[in-house]
Formats: sequence, structure tokens, C-alpha cells
Amino acid sequence: MNRILVINSSLSGDTSVSRILVDEAVQRLLVIDPKAVVSYRDVGDAPIPHLTSATVAGIRAIPETQAELAAQALSDELIAELKAASVVVIGAPMYNFSIPTSLRAWFDHVLRPRVTFAYKDGSVQGLLTGIGAIVIESRGGLYSEGPTMSMDFQEPYLKTLLGFIGISDVTFIHAEKIGYGPEAREMAITTAKSRLAETIRPGFMNAFDV
Ligand SMILES: Cc1cc2nc3c(=O)[nH]c(=O)nc-3n(C[C@H](O)[C@H](O)[C@H](O)COP(=O)(O)O)c2cc1C
Repeated sequence: MNRILVINSSLSGDTSVSRILVDEAVQRLLVIDPKAVVSYRDVGDAPIPHLTSATVAGIRAIPETQAELAAQALSDELIAELKAASVVVIGAPMYNFSIPTSLRAWFDHVLRPRVTFAYKDGSVQGLLTGIGAIVIESRGGLYSEGPTMSMDFQEPYLKTLLGFIGISDVTFIHAEKIGYGPEAREMAITTAKSRLAETIRPGFMNAFDV
């Protein structure tokens, strides 16, 4: 059975462009597999705590204190949600040329040595295989072309983070120029929806089976 994990991180509630497009992606996935089970993790509305000196050992060392054990338990829960997924749909607005700190906190809990990645013979191995990803990138400006391309620390970063844990089959969908006014916003949503329609076709989820 296919499982779809949805991760939203926008702080803009109902007006969020990434949330609109994440919903569209989920609806399209359900058209190609009506029996797929969808689960939601909203790190924008219900933030994952940032790691602190009191909790970091829960992720990167051997936990001893209550706070460290709680951080490890949350990490276990987030990783289990991801491992169970056939496809993960991530809503990732561009904030200060990168990703929201709430989404970064999620990755801080999910990138875990010996659990989601490991080093073997001097190179890193991602341990989560067989999971596909659709990442919706909403942006106030334009970064896919022109002089600001070099300021895009969002897409290369997300590609690296996901690839590091073994999720290398990633489709990035852009919604750009959201800050240029209502017409540009509508155009960006329409364009991104067409890209989703082109991408999510029968057999899309089979591609991630190992
Ligand atoms: C804190 C914050 C930082 C932002 N930084 C950028 C940025 O660096 N570049 C950009 O193009 N847009 C930036 N924006 C605009 C958002 O990317 C844009 O509004 C996008 O639509 C947000 O996605 P959402 O509609 O799903 O919330 C920023 C918005 C916020 C709230």
C-alpha cells in the first residue's frame, strides 16, 4: 500500500502558496492511487523544537537525561513516519534564501548517524531508500534564472539533505515571483499546478519501489 507523508512548513496559514500546491500534489497522487494513506506533519503550525545543548545528545550521541531521551523519541517518531512513506511531499517556502528554521529543525531530527545515514569505506551511505519526494518551493522572487540564481540556497540545500539520507529521486516544483503582486502569484500557482499534472502520472509511485 502506498503511503504519502505530507510535510508543511509555511508560517502563512491559508494564504500559503506552498500549502495550496502541496494539497494539489496530494489530490493528484490520490487520483493515481485512491487507496494511498496520507499522513500529515505540519512543522509550521506545530514546530519541532530546535536542538539545544540539553537535547543534542539525543540525536548525535547516547542519550542519558530526560531531555535527551525525549529528543531521541521525537527523532524516532519522525524517522518512522518518513520510513513508512512511499512518497514525501514537502512544502518548503524560501525564507532568507534558504528554508524555514522549522523545516531545518525537522531535518536536524531526521538526519541521524547509523539510523538514516552511515559512513562506509570513507563515503556516506543514505539508509532511506525506496522513497520518492516532491518538493514545492515557493519564493517571493525569481531564482530559477537571471542574476539571483546564485542566491538560491534552498534547492541545492534540500537536494543535499534529502540525498544524504538516500532520498535522491526528488522532483522540485517552483512557484516563483509570489511577491510581484496578485497576478504574478496566480500565474505562479497555475504554472506549478501544470508541472504537478505533468509529473504525477499513473505509475509515478511505482518508480520508487526497490
Ligand atoms: C521570513 C521570510 C523570509 C523570506 N525570505 C525570502 C527570500 O529570501 N527570498 C524570496 O524570494 N522570498 C522570501 N520570502 C517570501 C516567501 O518566499 C514567499 O512569500 C512565499 O510565497 C512563501 O511561501 P508560502 O506562501 O507557502 O508561505 C520570505 C518570507 C518570509 C516570511
